[in-house]
Amino acid sequence: MKQSKIAGIGHYVPKKIVTNHDLAEVMDTSDEWIRERTGIIERRYAERHKETTSTMGVEAAKIAIERAGITNKDVDFIIFATLSPDYYFPGAGVLLQRQMDMAGIGALDIRNQCSGFIYALSVADQFVKTGMYKNVLVVGSEFHSSGLDFSTKGRNISVIFGDGAGAVIVQPTDVKNKGILSTHLHADGEYAEKLAFINPGSHGGAFLGTEQYGYPEGDFDSIWLTDKIWADKDIYPNMEGQAVFKMAVQKFPEVIAEALSKNKLTSADIDILVPHQANLRISQFVQKKLGLKDDQVVNNIQKYGNTTAASVPIALSEAWEAGRVKDGDLVCLAAFGSGFTWGSALIRW
Ligand code: UT7
Repeated sequence: MKQSKIAGIGHYVPKKIVTNHDLAEVMDTSDEWIRERTGIIERRYAERHKETTSTMGVEAAKIAIERAGITNKDVDFIIFATLSPDYYFPGAGVLLQRQMDMAGIGALDIRNQCSGFIYALSVADQFVKTGMYKNVLVVGSEFHSSGLDFSTKGRNISVIFGDGAGAVIVQPTDVKNKGILSTHLHADGEYAEKLAFINPGSHGGAFLGTEQYGYPEGDFDSIWLTDKIWADKDIYPNMEGQAVFKMAVQKFPEVIAEALSKNKLTSADIDILVPHQANLRISQFVQKKLGLKDDQVVNNIQKYGNTTAASVPIALSEAWEAGRVKDGDLVCLAAFGSGFTWGSALIRW
């Protein structure tokens, strides 16, 4: 079986910078609280009515394609990871495809939130290894600021998330022990509601009880979005931050250890770790646990906040541009988030 590699990488972040001070003007929060608890100083917001999750994905994809030395016509499959798609359906993958003039090839959307990029990379890796595709475009993109609760009620979530996109081209390689060495994917749906965007949805209160949503009596009335859900403004993501934090600091090291063990390596072999940018405190905890030095861990949450499916490819792309990812380096990617889902990938660059 062939091995696959990342042949090109790129990222795009919108121009608009939103600082913690900007947010403190619209909700009860402070620069100090946000910095202390998360490490975030500012984040980017996409230009409303003009940019979308797919348009940002296109910008990142153009760079990845150029750096891979191919053209749009060479791409033979698209995998698009996002939790903030332009439309509920069809997915962002086909919208990107339309904008990039790639009609005809398959386009798959991945819905695994913060782990979305790792899941997408793993799928691309399998397709390339089996010889099915030769130039898979993998995109992670998010337009969080389009649907956050900017009142004080939503502050625990809204201050964390930012917008942006990252993309890679996954290709086969004949060079032994180079490229994607292994990927490891996990999930535990027991915790599905700990970090979730529940309404609108088809659940009809089946898991959480019907009373709170005010469903209409008729069998032919829509239950996706009721007047009560709308009046209660129960249409935003919600998160039990501490529960997510606790599990994240457990699962990050666990899934990294799994990847190292699979390849008969240890944390001392890692040249650079690119963790999902969930919280600087989580990344620092993982760094300490693995015994890595500051320059071995990529942290850019300070500038961009948590960009969910885009965070790993943006961080990897920035690190690569800065010369921090070199030929032969052992690169470890890891993520944890809503689902709960988590995963890792080890790459010999
Ligand atoms: O990508 C994966 C997804 N997310 C994560 O990995 C997030 C993991 N969790 C976290 O990063 C942290 O739990 C948060 C940063 C979200 C929150 O930090 P925390 O230390 O767990 O705070 P908390 O939720 O326990 O809230 C502490 C206090 C509360 O006030 P009271 O009840 O003590 O009076 C909150 O209401 O902080 C309050 N609070 C805020 N205050 C100012 C919550 N959000 C804010 C805010 N500004 N933005």
